[in-house]
Amino acid sequence: MKAFTKYSYGGPEVLSMEEVEKPTVKDGHLLIRVKANSANPADWHILRGKPFFARFSFGLFKPKYNILGADFSGIVKEVGNNVEPFVIGDRVFGESLQAGAFAEYVCVPSTVCALIPDALNYKDLACTPIAGVTAFQAIVQHGNIQKGQSVFINGSSGGVGHFAVQIAKIYGATVTAVCSSKNVEFVKSLGADKVIAYDKENINDHNETYDLVLDTHGNLRFKDFKRLGKRGVLIGFTTMLHMMKVLLSSVVSKYELIQFTAKPNSKDLKKLASFMDTGKLKVHIEKTFPYKQIPEAVGYIEDMRTRGKVAMVWEEE
Ligand SMILES: NC(=O)c1ccc[n+]([C@@H]2O[C@H](COP(=O)([O-])OP(=O)(O)OC[C@H]3O[C@@H](n4cnc5c(N)ncnc54)[C@H](OP(=O)(O)O)[C@@H]3O)[C@@H](O)[C@H]2O)c1
Repeated sequence: MKAFTKYSYGGPEVLSMEEVEKPTVKDGHLLIRVKANSANPADWHILRGKPFFARFSFGLFKPKYNILGADFSGIVKEVGNNVEPFVIGDRVFGESLQAGAFAEYVCVPSTVCALIPDALNYKDLACTPIAGVTAFQAIVQHGNIQKGQSVFINGSSGGVGHFAVQIAKIYGATVTAVCSSKNVEFVKSLGADKVIAYDKENINDHNETYDLVLDTHGNLRFKDFKRLGKRGVLIGFTTMLHMMKVLLSSVVSKYELIQFTAKPNSKDLKKLASFMDTGKLKVHIEKTFPYKQIPEAVGYIEDMRTRGKVAMVWEEE
């Protein structure tokens, strides 16, 4: 099968398409013929081996996993034992940071997959797993948002942010969202009640208060969280130093600030698919690359200014 492989750490130039052996299905796993992928910051962090601590999971001196890619959608071709409710021929989507999804076939635990509703397409669903699950867990599980509460979302136009705005609205929150001025109209179209352009208003001086502060970009200081929100959820990071400062400050204070790593699971993926099926949640795809340009797609998202998501397709529907 064709796969995008890497044998050293580096930029998109170390990724190349080559023929490798198709994975064999294991118990509890699905073998999936990939139809589409999406690119996430996790892909280039893993590709570059940066920040350094990522290498403890992905290989200290060279990559432990040779095929890159996490988000996928596709069709189940083979099943191991104990993969209920999945059967051969199912249309599924999911994510795994280790499985190597930028390939014609991927073999993943069935527990990180969900069915694609009939009316939805492979491309949209391939763009949903990491960004959608992260936004969902941030707003609902860690943020514990309740109907009528207010949420401030810093970084609202990218993959995670554009899902977070919509999910907060689904759960009945009032949303104030922050993005660059070029994305203000886009974020309003997602349902945000108020949008602040960070290049017009300095967020460090913003003085309104909210029930929940969500930072997908990761540039808020600890004092911003405390000033703006009753509780906070930290998702992204700008530098490790900045993130450590924020987290250390929260440890010595009684302020409730949660930093988490999203965990893929069928239940949350199924929930996101049902929101999409009923038209409550939409994915915005800024750009689609053919699979041969997967390295370009990973390079494209690296400056972290994507509006919504970037997709890569193996076969058009
Ligand atoms: N904790 C987890 O489990 C988890 C999971 C997924 C992702 N993440 C992290 O979350 C972050 C976001 O991921 P993503 O997929 O949403 O990335 P993305 O699609 O590249 O989006 C990044 C967004 O950041 C915004 N941004 C840039 N500068 C900003 C600023 N000064 N203030 C506010 N917003 C700014 C950009 O909006 P404009 O273009 O409008 O400026 C862009 O839309 C990354 O750091 C990623 O590593 C964490």
